[in-house]
Amino acid sequence: MFIESFKVESPNVKYTENEILSVYSYETTELVHEDREGTYQWIVKPKTVKYEFKTDIHVPKLGVMLVGWGGNNGSTLTAGVIANREGISWATKDKVQQANYFGSLTQASSIRVGSFNGEEIYAPFKSLLPMVNPDDIVFGGWDISDMNLADAMARARVLDIDLQKQLRPYMESMLPLPGIYDPDFIAANQGARANNVIKGTKKEQVQQIIKDIREFKEQNKVDKVVVLWTANTERYSNVVVGLNDTVENLLGSVDKNEAEISPSTLYAIACVLENVPFINGSPQNTFVPGLIDLAIRRNCLIGGDDFKSGQTKMKSVLVDFLVGAGIKPTSIVSYNHLGNNDGMNLSAPQTFRSKEISKSNVVDDMVSSNGILYEPGEHPDHVVVIKYVPYVADSKRAMDEYTSEIFLGGKNTIVMHNTCEDSLLAAPIILDLVLLAELSTRIQLKSEAEGKFHSFHPVATILSYLSKAPLVPPGTPVVNALSKQRAMLENILRACVGLAPENNMILEYK
Ligand code: NAI
Repeated sequence: MFIESFKVESPNVKYTENEILSVYSYETTELVHEDREGTYQWIVKPKTVKYEFKTDIHVPKLGVMLVGWGGNNGSTLTAGVIANREGISWATKDKVQQANYFGSLTQASSIRVGSFNGEEIYAPFKSLLPMVNPDDIVFGGWDISDMNLADAMARARVLDIDLQKQLRPYMESMLPLPGIYDPDFIAANQGARANNVIKGTKKEQVQQIIKDIREFKEQNKVDKVVVLWTANTERYSNVVVGLNDTVENLLGSVDKNEAEISPSTLYAIACVLENVPFINGSPQNTFVPGLIDLAIRRNCLIGGDDFKSGQTKMKSVLVDFLVGAGIKPTSIVSYNHLGNNDGMNLSAPQTFRSKEISKSNVVDDMVSSNGILYEPGEHPDHVVVIKYVPYVADSKRAMDEYTSEIFLGGKNTIVMHNTCEDSLLAAPIILDLVLLAELSTRIQLKSEAEGKFHSFHPVATILSYLSKAPLVPPGTPVVNALSKQRAMLENILRACVGLAPENNMILEYK
């Protein structure tokens, strides 16, 4: 059965006019490596830590500024939100289609809240805590191409034509602000669309972004802004001692107009200085060490990297299943071909390299979790190929071959073929990223050992479910397995309303 909403009644939860307060017992373990009578043993001690959570229930009017607003993702997301807000339906060759938010974890997935008369009861994911309604988001942003959003939507060739016609009047007047363009960081083939760029030194460019954010906030009367990079994939920037390794060196390098500071890092610096959350949806290393330190110092949320939309999402499900089933993946080969502007940009070796790195580490945590299958340091062969094929446009093909060793030396090969408009996968993920980033800035917590409430660590691991290469604070484990990432997110939100983590034990019926 499906219910729309619920309220938790418990001595551990208090709903006030402004906040939800919850007390939560975090059941965990402590590991000790001890010399007991001459032999070393691992001792595992279950441990309970009391936490308190405090969630501000005032949902702000949210502005979202996209870097690369006029791209396929940016225009598709903007169009999709308008279509939902306006309740637009359109004729396809199959049926009359209603706007929806399918593919969004927050808007279109559910959580289990319990059993009632022997039936499992589910509720919308978004009913856990007060969240911004995506229909209410005000969009804006930057693009190095000056095309208005209606034309950008047509250029993207993603949406049905009848839908595009209905959306055009809403989108014609939406104009991207000039962006920071540096041809050294993206493929040379992008030069042709760069007709809308911020002039000046890197310092002046950062100042312009800050000004843009302030003006957008003022003009649209929004309470909060989140900025998200969905612009072209950049090449990696070099991380060099003295250049971008510390806050002082990074800011000093901006002042000195150092060539190696990338546009994405400049946008991120502007956001952190303005205390505006910044999310990176592409694979490049925007978050150089000096920037991560700046975000930590100013307690400003940063999150990324690279949307986990198609092939990698499947990989982080399939390899988790195989390794979890005691099957040993030994070779993973992933081919992609796509024909959109992202594909054209990725046809340059340096930008492809960023994507390759981001796609490559995704099975590491699953492989290292099983020492029965893998020797220490052993990895499956893992190869990623991306080719640009203009004809397929945004309808990306992903072909994967997984070969595994099974019982008694047998081999098992699974082949997958995935075809889908890339932007229709990415747009709902962008939505989740901004909604969850906003929500997480309203949550505070403290453990029993801590005197006062604090926000989550500014490096937002809570967004890992949506990221191909989750950015984590230094010294924190990276989790790629999709089910673990979803459980982490859901269970943290459950804790905020005093609900136990979903344990799937269903002991009532045993
Ligand atoms: P796109 O090429 O259609 O859009 C990117 C836009 O960014 C373009 O309009 C371009 O003019 C603009 N741009 C480039 N550099 C800029 C700058 N410095 N400042 C402002 N604007 C700039 O690409 P698409 O398909 O929208 O993808 C965007 C990014 O998202 C790419 O990096 C892609 O790798 C990444 N991504 C996409 C996924 C998907 O499923 N669509 C999945 C994972 C990542």
